[in-house]
Amino acid sequence: MTWKLTLPCSKADAEALAEDIPALAELDPPPALMTSEPDPSRPEEMELAVYLEDRPDEDFITLLKTLLPNSPSAEAVVEELPEEDWVTLSQQGLDPIEAGRFYVHTARDAGTVPSQLVGIQVEASRAFGTGHHPTTAGCLRAIDQLPAAPENVLDLGTGTALLAIGIAKAFPSAQILASDIDAPSIHVARETLEANGVTEGDAPGEIRLLVADGFEAPELALRMPYDLIVANILAQPLIELSSDIAEALAPGGTLILAGLLTDQADAVAGAFRGAGLDPVAADPNEGWPILIFTRAGLGGA
Ligand SMILES: C[S@@+](CC[C@H](N)C(=O)[O-])C[C@H]1O[C@@H](n2cnc3c(N)ncnc32)[C@H](O)[C@@H]1O
Repeated sequence: MTWKLTLPCSKADAEALAEDIPALAELDPPPALMTSEPDPSRPEEMELAVYLEDRPDEDFITLLKTLLPNSPSAEAVVEELPEEDWVTLSQQGLDPIEAGRFYVHTARDAGTVPSQLVGIQVEASRAFGTGHHPTTAGCLRAIDQLPAAPENVLDLGTGTALLAIGIAKAFPSAQILASDIDAPSIHVARETLEANGVTEGDAPGEIRLLVADGFEAPELALRMPYDLIVANILAQPLIELSSDIAEALAPGGTLILAGLLTDQADAVAGAFRGAGLDPVAADPNEGWPILIFTRAGLGGA
């Protein structure tokens, strides 16, 4: 992402935007939106910053303005950012989010974790998973609603390892394997573990990080079966991995799937039903559905 578009907006529009991302979320890749209050003495006058990979065209700016109905005179400022700088700039707008019992924040807000919530500290980085994407927040809510504490967990496509860290903190007896096809993401995940005081290892409460494409590394099979698998990837890789994922799930275990769009949910669900799993729930989640499956078996569904 190397372009930044800034639009002044009213506080009401900025607050409504948090709920109103579907129109943008379907873009590939979805742009990152940050709202801020440039002048604390004028709390009604806010600013929307959008970070994009490509230069925004007039159609995109018009679409954004339709999302700011109370800011009619908003003039868009478009600027190209040096490749390295957008992360730092976007970081300034990463306000904490709550999802279920989880509170995701950057180092800047480390002191603001409410005592009843589980804090997860994540910095903006080139790895996916700051909690601000609906898929990540939806997975956190699904983890929050698990019917029982998991003991043996696989976080497939871990990105920053935010979901794995949330699981380690919420369920200290869980043993967790967190894998990603992308080696730089695992590097970021390692830093994120450290920032959260979570140890990399194989004991309960620890997370083992691994670079792996799907189930191609033997370590994934060695720890099977998992009583919780979370896979926030994209629809096509999920479909391709459906048999491997289904085989890795323990009877009675829970599978949380994300990364698919609403119109891809039937195809993804069909692949996992075909692989022998039973659907338990589907959360529409702002156009990024969360699908939950289990494997029937002794003591299971
Ligand atoms: C949408 S991000 C999810 C990150 C994080 N789990 C979250 O929920 O925010 C998807 C991640 O899956 C990884 N990924 C994509 N295909 C994969 C595959 N075949 N095997 C393992 N990881 C994969 C990507 O590198 C990326 O880090």
